[in-house]
Order: sequence, then C-alpha cells, then structure tokens
Amino acid sequence: MSRAASGPGDITTSEAVTLELVDADTTRALGAALAEMLRAGDLVLLTGDLGAGKTTLTQGIGAALNVRGQVASPTFIVAREHPPLPRADGTRGPGLVHVDAYRLGGLSELDALDLDSSLEDSVTVVEWGRGLAEALADDRLEIDLERPRGAPSFDPGVAAEEDPEAGTRKVTIRAVGQRWAGVDLGSRLSRVAN
Ligand SMILES: Nc1ncnc2c1ncn2[C@@H]1O[C@H](COP(=O)(O)OP(=O)(O)OP(=O)(O)O)[C@@H](O)[C@H]1O
Ligand SMILES: [Mg+2]
Repeated sequence: MSRAASGPGDITTSEAVTLELVDADTTRALGAALAEMLRAGDLVLLTGDLGAGKTTLTQGIGAALNVRGQVASPTFIVAREHPPLPRADGTRGPGLVHVDAYRLGGLSELDALDLDSSLEDSVTVVEWGRGLAEALADDRLEIDLERPRGAPSFDPGVAAEEDPEAGTRKVTIRAVGQRWAGVDLGSRLSRVAN
C-alpha cells in the first residue's frame, strides 16, 4: 500500500454499487464475491452502525480467502491476523488483517500496532475505518452498511429492537484509486443479491 493523505485529489474509479442484503448469508456471500477480487495490499473500509453486519461481511471475506482462524468481532483486540491456509494446489493467497478502528485513537496507533503480517502481503479490512484509515492507501474499497431503523423482527415473538437479525441491510460499495480502474464492481457483484 502506498501512503498518502486522503483529500480532494482522491479518484473514485467506479460508480457506487448498492445492493440489498436480505439475510446474514447474503452478507457473507457479498464477502465471498469481494474476496474473489481482493489481492495482497488491498484495503477495505467498513462503515455502519452497531450490528449493521461489518463483522459478518468480514467473515465472508475470510472464508473465501481461506484464512486460518474464526473471524469474529475484534472486541478488546485492535487487530487480528488470519494467515492464509494452503489451497488444494499448495499455493496460498493473501492473509487477512481484521482491524477494529473503533478502539483506535488515531492513525498513529494503527501504525504502532506493529503487526506480524505486513499489510502489503495481506488484505486489510477495517471496521469503523472511515475518517481514520483513508490515509493508509490511495486505493481502497469503501463499504457502507445501513440497517433500517424500525425494521420488523423476523420472529414475531421478539421485539425488533431485540432481534439482531431484523432488517434487510442496504450496502453501498465505492472503489477509490487507480487499483480499481477498469474493475466493473456492478457486474462482479450482481450475482450476490439475486
Ligand atoms: N443482511 C443481513 N440481514 C439480517 N441480519 C444480518 C445481515 N447481515 C448480518 N446480520 C446479522 O446482524 C447481526 C450483527 O452483525 P455483525 O456482528 O456482523 O455487525 P457489526 O456491524 O460487526 O456490529 P458491531 O458494530 O457490533 O461490530 C448478526 O446477528 C448477523 O448475523
Ligand atoms: Mg463487528
């Protein structure tokens, strides 16, 4: 990843893609579809309220990248490293670095984490990264997850506000930087929500 300050010079290389995610499996399927496009050095910034599905999406990415360990909410852990497991042909893809920026005071702390895996060799997914992690890379995917307020519960016996699954999520994906020039996110992701 190249280091640069974010700012008005940032290039958005694709139209934003918006999808409806009807359940958690669809959120994971989006993660898997993204993983097919992701390569070492890529940065993904996830934004969305508590319970919007950021960790679920990261689970889909981790499963499809075939990395070691269970992708979970990185609560109390600022960053968790998931090294790649060998594929059937013996080769390994990129590992996954899963960061919870909510617990970071600022970029200097992300720098100071001193991770074992280098970000150049990994896919880095940052929850709550917006406004904090842009300066890590000119090139990034920015993903916003929205959970509608007042969504009805799937389970009639559970109040909607107590049901973590309630509410179809709306996701908006934007690619920023030259890395994504010519990548047609819309067609690569169209199968997810259909
Ligand atoms: N598209 C979806 N539709 C319904 N439920 C979903 C969807 N995606 C994820 N969920 C469910 O929403 C709940 C919260 O998901 P998750 O933990 O991924 O959110 P989060 O954004 O990481 O939350 P936090 O801010 O606490 O880290 C989980 O129970 C998950 O199964
Ligand atoms: Mg989470």
